[in-house]
Amino acid sequence: MKGIVLAGGNGTRLHPLTRAVSKQILPVYDKPMIYYPLSVLMLGGIREIQVISTPDHVGLYRALLGDGSQLGIEISYAIQQRANGIAEAFLIGADHIGDGSVALVLGDNVFHGPGFPTLLQGLTADMDGCVLFGYAVKDPERYGVGTTDTTGRLISIEEKPSAPRSNLAITGLYLYDNDVVDITKNLTPSPRGELEITDVNRVYLDQGRARLVDLGRGFAWLDTGTHDSLLQASQYVQVLEHRQGVRIACLEEIAFRMGFIDAAACYALGAQLGHTGYGEYLMTIASQGN
Ligand code: DAU
Repeated sequence: MKGIVLAGGNGTRLHPLTRAVSKQILPVYDKPMIYYPLSVLMLGGIREIQVISTPDHVGLYRALLGDGSQLGIEISYAIQQRANGIAEAFLIGADHIGDGSVALVLGDNVFHGPGFPTLLQGLTADMDGCVLFGYAVKDPERYGVGTTDTTGRLISIEEKPSAPRSNLAITGLYLYDNDVVDITKNLTPSPRGELEITDVNRVYLDQGRARLVDLGRGFAWLDTGTHDSLLQASQYVQVLEHRQGVRIACLEEIAFRMGFIDAAACYALGAQLGHTGYGEYLMTIASQGN
């Protein structure tokens, strides 16, 4: 399975923070926002990843992440000229996707919870149709909203409905088989001029091949779309990291624990960061070897 991180858009809701920089490079506590969705793909075992961003901002991600070899993965870059919709990622990334399955994650989504890596690895191993992830929220009208039958099959999906049929928001992580490319090629832009991810998902729904996995109440799916939610996401990460002495979405640690790099490489990445808490953390886990 290939991975795509979509890190474009205009970020207008966060102006003036995002007038000169890309939203997905803003800090969520101690690391750039894009680390969080990228960590999700890596934890799912995905090692070939394309980052899609705007013409103005793609260079920032290249400077931050390089070709991914330091993490034992391959990162390529592609440009979305305008915010033509989330689903355009499958057209821009068609060559990258090739003839296999793909996981798309939005560059501003933060996921954290027990068992998530195992869940992802199970799902990514053998994809047929599409898998979406639902999360109960108190303001579902702000998101895509889904309902399922008792087996978890998606039976309805609506984008930002004024009268939501459930409280299950569709999160910004989407797993698809290869049909997603042809499905997107046949989409027409919505009235707001975008290729809508919800329209892609509706095609799978109509074919009876869409599943919605409820992430459950012990899980954290955090929003970064407003100034308040961005701050709250940082505070969530700060609280857990201080309490437990671990780091959330630490890409170097994940690369080490997933076996993408060895302990010596992990240690060297820590040493490069000098005397920062982040660098010392990497050197410590590499030395402990666990
Ligand atoms: O976060 C989950 C939600 O994401 C889903 O529940 C919705 O169904 C889905 O439509 C989307 O809703 P948003 O209102 O958050 O979409 P937004 O247009 O803000 O785009 C989400 C991210 O994707 C944002 O960081 C910018 C990026 N993006 C968006 C578009 C439309 C792009 O990179 N390119 C685009 O063309």
